[in-house]
Amino acid sequence: GSGEQAAHAAAWWQGERDTLLRLAHERTPRYVYHLPTVRAQARRVKSLKAVDRVHYAVKANTHPGILKVLAEEGFAFECVSPGELATVAAAVPTDVPLLFTPNFASRRDFEAALQTRATITIDALHPIEHWGDMFTGRDIVLRVDLGRGLGHHDKVKTGGTGSKFGVPVEHVDRFLRLADAAGARVIGLHAHLGSGILDAAHWGEVYAQLAALAERIGTISVLNIGGGLGVPSHPGETALDMAALDRVLTSVRQAYPQFQLWMEPGRYLVADAGVLLAKVTQEKEKGANVRYLGLDTGMNSLIRPALYDAWHEIANLTRLDEPATTMYQVVGPICESGDILGSDRRLPESKEDDVVLVAQGGAYGAVMASHYNLRDAADEVLLP
Ligand code: LLP
Repeated sequence: GSGEQAAHAAAWWQGERDTLLRLAHERTPRYVYHLPTVRAQARRVKSLKAVDRVHYAVKANTHPGILKVLAEEGFAFECVSPGELATVAAAVPTDVPLLFTPNFASRRDFEAALQTRATITIDALHPIEHWGDMFTGRDIVLRVDLGRGLGHHDKVKTGGTGSKFGVPVEHVDRFLRLADAAGARVIGLHAHLGSGILDAAHWGEVYAQLAALAERIGTISVLNIGGGLGVPSHPGETALDMAALDRVLTSVRQAYPQFQLWMEPGRYLVADAGVLLAKVTQEKEKGANVRYLGLDTGMNSLIRPALYDAWHEIANLTRLDEPATTMYQVVGPICESGDILGSDRRLPESKEDDVVLVAQGGAYGAVMASHYNLRDAADEVLLP
């Protein structure tokens, strides 16, 4: 192929084309997850020698087969709801550490989490002020808002007054007094500034800021510098340099060696491992040169293009070897003008029932799917 079809020349799915075509002919829409890619990404993260414990942020993809692989690779797990905690508990061994890192969770959610072995992260004054008795005798982690956010889109930046996450630094002392009154021990500080970050220096800055705050507090033994590790999506973006990240973290730990270092990446582990398979339903022309290519699923299966203008590579798997001659607006069947999977994509001249692959669907794909228009959900298949 040429043009956009060749953007990620080394993608696993090109080698699995026949299997994917067979799976798509059985059924679409369908997510397919390539476990060897999950393992390869897991090992890249595990190569960070400066990090003591890595939690997989399961919000990115909760498929039990993926949770099992990551448990085998030595990951702990970060959950944000009782549902995620229950799914993880059912999939991984009972000695694997868990983190509960919710936002605006109810008292009942905290009560459910306290029944599990999860370490609880609190990101507001309210729980410790109003439900303090729940945390008596507990070790807790405090999520702070360092005052700025980062990420691939404004909607995924999680710092600053425009974001609902974390306790602002100026309220930290109040939080500590309330925790003390409740008889809870604040043993960790946490910050997560956003998602889809490709600059290794970022996590060093977060560690240094948290460490300076922790030294002032005195009881802190753990610093959780969050997730957010990005993967290149647009052609031309450069991958996160993991060796550089390890150097950055190693050097900042030399300045503050007294803390354990935790992280919680989601996307990095699973994004490239998943593809969404769909079939062409119809074609439509409008005006002189606008051509719509309709698929049997859209924003109901993968909302990222509609929600964040996210760019996902799209390929016609049936015609992978044909020249990309035609500019398409690739859309789904949902009754919204925003139901677009890819704008201005050069693809081979495509026909009804061709199999179309949407790449990088392993993170925030199936987990964010909806029932809108009462369309059936894509199912999920694992390739071992
Ligand atoms: N830790 C916390 C506290 C988080 O809020 C998140 C993501 C993560 C870790 C994992 O971030 P990751 O490593 O996956 O970037 N739906 C959006 C991403 C939202 C991320 C929400 N929080 C997307 O599709 O881009």
